[in-house]
Amino acid sequence: MRITLLGAGAMGCLFGGLLAEQGNSVTLVDSCPERLKAVADQGLLLEEQGRERRIRGLLTAAPPHGAEDAELLVVFVKSSDTFGAVSSLRIPPNTVVLTLQNGLGNIEAIRRAGISRLAAGVTGNGASYFAPGAVRFAGRGETVIGWAAPDQEALSQAGQPESMPLSAPGLEDIRVAFERAGLPTRIVSDIKGPIWTKLLVNAGINAATALCLAPNGVMAEHPEAAALLRAVVEEGWQIARALGVSLDTADPVAHAVAIARATASNRSSMLQDILAGRSTEINVINGALAACAAELGMVAPVNETLARLVRIREEAGMVLPAQCGTL
Ligand code: PAF
Repeated sequence: MRITLLGAGAMGCLFGGLLAEQGNSVTLVDSCPERLKAVADQGLLLEEQGRERRIRGLLTAAPPHGAEDAELLVVFVKSSDTFGAVSSLRIPPNTVVLTLQNGLGNIEAIRRAGISRLAAGVTGNGASYFAPGAVRFAGRGETVIGWAAPDQEALSQAGQPESMPLSAPGLEDIRVAFERAGLPTRIVSDIKGPIWTKLLVNAGINAATALCLAPNGVMAEHPEAAALLRAVVEEGWQIARALGVSLDTADPVAHAVAIARATASNRSSMLQDILAGRSTEINVINGALAACAAELGMVAPVNETLARLVRIREEAGMVLPAQCGTL
C-alpha cells in the first residue's frame, strides 16, 4: 500500500517504520526539516526493549508534497494543527484519510479541510521520540479503526463502501497492512466509543505526567497519582454516560491503569510536548471534557483544574526552547 504519515513525531515514525519494514511504500510528511533530514540521511532508528534497528527506505516530504499518490493518509499531527496540516497537502479524492490522533475534534477539523473519505481510530501503542529520526517503542497496544462518516459507518461491516473506487483501500485492507506490521488492529462499526475510551485514558495519564514530569507507570503505582487518575477518569465517565456514549470497556478506570502499566516507561505525549517546549493537546483532552461538562450543565472540577495547570505550564512555565516547530 502507498501510505503517507502526516506528522513525523513519535507515533508517525513508529507506524511509518513498521509499515515500511513490511514492504509498504511509506512517506513521512512534516514541516520540520531536521526531522525529515535525519530519516532521509540515516533511515529511522527504532529502539524496542533495549534493542535498536535501523529501518531504511522511507520517503520524506514537506507540505504541500507527500500525499499526491497516497492510497492511505494517516494523520498523527498534534490536534491543534489538524486543520492546517491536512489543508496544506494535495490529497487526491480517492485517498482514505485515517486520524489516529488523541482527543476530541479531529474528525470535524479534517472534514472542514474538505475530506469526505474519512476513517478514525485510536491506538494504544506508546512511543517516545528521543532524537530526530529516532523513536523508542515503549509499549504495544491495540489499534481500533472505523469509518467516521455516518453514511460510510453503516457500510463499515463490509469494509468497502460501494461508492469507493476499487483502488481505494477499505478498512479490512488497512487492518491487514497494520497487522502484518505487528500492529494488532480491530475494526468497529461505531468509532465514538473507542475514541472516548482513549480520551479517558489520555485524560487520566497525560496531564498529570506532564505536570509531575513522571513516566506513565507512576499513574498506576504511586497511590496519590492513582487516586488522581481515578478522579479524572470517573468525571469523564459521567460525561460520557450523560452523552450516551457506549465506552469500549466496562471499567474505564481499570483500563486506564492497565495502559499506564503497559506503557510504564513511556513519557506521555503531553510530557514530551512540555519537555520540548511545544504546546500540548490539553484543550482537546481534559479541557474538552470540562467544556462538554459545562455544555451539559455538569461540572468537571478535576479535569478543569488539570487543564488550567497545564495551560499555565505551557504559557508561563516554558523554560526549555522548542526543538522543532509544530507541523
Ligand atoms: O498520549 C500518549 O502518550 C498515549 O496516548 C498513551 C496511551 C497515554 C501512552 O503514552
